[in-house]
Amino acid sequence: MKKIAVFTSGGDAPGMNACIRAVVRTAIFRGLEVYGISHGYDGMIKGSIKKMQSHSVSNIIQRGGTILKTARSEEFRTKEGRQKAFDQLKEFGIEGLVAIGGDGTFTGAKILHEEFGIQVIGCPGTIDNDIYGTDYTIGFDTAVNTALEAIDKIRDTAAAHDRIFFVEVMGRDSGYIAIECGIGGGAEFVMVPETQTDLKKVVKALKNLRKTKSSSIIVVAEGGDEGGAETILEKVKQKIQDPEKEFKVTTLGHIQRGGRPTARDRVLASRCGMAAVDGLIEGKTNCMAGVVNGDVVYTPFADCIGKTKPLKEDHLKLIEILSI
Ligand code: F6P
Repeated sequence: MKKIAVFTSGGDAPGMNACIRAVVRTAIFRGLEVYGISHGYDGMIKGSIKKMQSHSVSNIIQRGGTILKTARSEEFRTKEGRQKAFDQLKEFGIEGLVAIGGDGTFTGAKILHEEFGIQVIGCPGTIDNDIYGTDYTIGFDTAVNTALEAIDKIRDTAAAHDRIFFVEVMGRDSGYIAIECGIGGGAEFVMVPETQTDLKKVVKALKNLRKTKSSSIIVVAEGGDEGGAETILEKVKQKIQDPEKEFKVTTLGHIQRGGRPTARDRVLASRCGMAAVDGLIEGKTNCMAGVVNGDVVYTPFADCIGKTKPLKEDHLKLIEILSI
């Protein structure tokens, strides 16, 4: 193997730049040529491919977003699109790929490998932490800390007015961000896509809130089974018509995707990036480099995509117990 390329795809995540840096520098250290593909699979199709040097990744370890840009490509979903992408890779003589992203990115990488035999290793880059084969994904820790900072601020104003706040965090199919924010932010309830929300129980508890409780925070994952925070608020309001209780909604949205990556995300990103390059050199393919119990582990894409990483039951219980 002489030439490899790296790209980011799907939703950006803080720490993707640290991962790009690790891939580029490890590749150069190991004597490979390394290319950057911009705008994910879209850029691969269009041949937006540039050679990278060690200095191309200077001063990016602390920056959110991705210097390689990202996209969700419709054309790559077609066989013709993937053929175009592969032809571009061939044109540049690229023999191995590092794909940084989430399950959509890995699904594309798996198909590309299966159709054209190109070697490819993934790095888990998504704020959602919903990838099997790694304890944490790159960007998750930063997103949780960003949301937590916002929740702390909401708590101040909630307490000042004795209000009940529904705070919506990201997570279309996954409740990891909501759970961590719920524990860290001292939420009364957390609503996540993975478990059925007992709305009756929530309503009952909100009706009976202790008078001494000056504020209440309910964290809702955007993909919650009962809907997002606005929808839940409407449902709750219909059941609680108490002029003493004032409800508000805050949707945190894309601020969770930006910002300086935390130390944990930078270290994870650096380890996964280096492991991806070393894996390619060793001949590994069709798999993701993640970290499980502190060690680098390669997990087949089929498992990363096909298996679910279940939420920890005791985490949900923890919120219930600590919110009395
Ligand atoms: O997958 C990461 C994620 O941030 C999800 O939590 C969220 O639902 C989605 O991306 C939002 O995507 P977009 O930025 O394309 O609206």
